[in-house]
Amino acid sequence: MIEVQGVSHRIGQTPILSDISLRLPKGRLTALIGPNGAGKSTLLSLMGRLMPLQAGQITVDGSDIARTDTRQLAKQMAILSQSNPLGSRLRVRELVSFGRWPHHQGRPGPQDAAQVSRALDDMDLTQLGDRFVDALSGGQRQRAFIAMTLAQGADWLLLDEPLAALDMAHARGVMARLAGLRDAGRSVVVVLHDINHAAVWADHIVAMKDGRIVAEGPPSQVCTAPTLGAIYDMDLRVMQVDGKPLVLHHL
Ligand SMILES: Nc1ncnc2c1ncn2[C@@H]1O[C@H](COP(=O)(O)OP(=O)(O)OP(=O)(O)O)[C@@H](O)[C@H]1O
Ligand SMILES: [Mg+2]
Repeated sequence: MIEVQGVSHRIGQTPILSDISLRLPKGRLTALIGPNGAGKSTLLSLMGRLMPLQAGQITVDGSDIARTDTRQLAKQMAILSQSNPLGSRLRVRELVSFGRWPHHQGRPGPQDAAQVSRALDDMDLTQLGDRFVDALSGGQRQRAFIAMTLAQGADWLLLDEPLAALDMAHARGVMARLAGLRDAGRSVVVVLHDINHAAVWADHIVAMKDGRIVAEGPPSQVCTAPTLGAIYDMDLRVMQVDGKPLVLHHL
């Protein structure tokens, strides 16, 4: 379980997160949703220790991230940020291999190579393994970064908008892979803007707005017209398709 207790965050005088307390279940796929600027990336970055905590505490499977050794944390948790700076002369396979660094620290073995190949294959990048990352399309590049995160083989995967820039077939492929990892006992936290991906694939949804948690629960509970309508300030319709909520809005 990831447990967030009393986490607040400010940038200058501006409050970004206000007293967030949250428990993310282990072995589940959790979707983090909410409008632009709600604080999703900030919260995910704090959970992944990409930024120091200003107030409160976050534990991952019982260990306080503020006190966990960096290499240990990298085995526990892999995080994909919303924007990823790019080393220009890097090949796709080399980028994905960085995910294995916490395991081999510069001396990759056959096990590491196998994990890299598997991650490339999962993200449909095997044919592009020798291409330079800066010579990929936007969606291919995004898949390369997801592959790097998968290759890390951590217990927890935190991904910030992994579906941004992906076509619908690859978006589905990424969600299916994340669900497969969940079925194999791993824990996934994924920021999504496409509510229908959250509704179909997530076990648990956390909705944020204005730096606070405004709804939390299974998709059937969170994906209702009144709840989502209030979060996004929109008129929405929710239908049931194959027992799952399908959210529609006017164009
Ligand atoms: N470096 C910064 N300086 C000032 N304000 C910031 C900074 N980074 C983020 N913010 C503000 O913090 C708030 C939360 O940002 P955050 O990136 O966490 O939102 P988000 O929910 O991930 O949004 P999106 O869906 O657009 O990615 C926003 O209002 C944003 O403008
Ligand atoms: Mg964000």
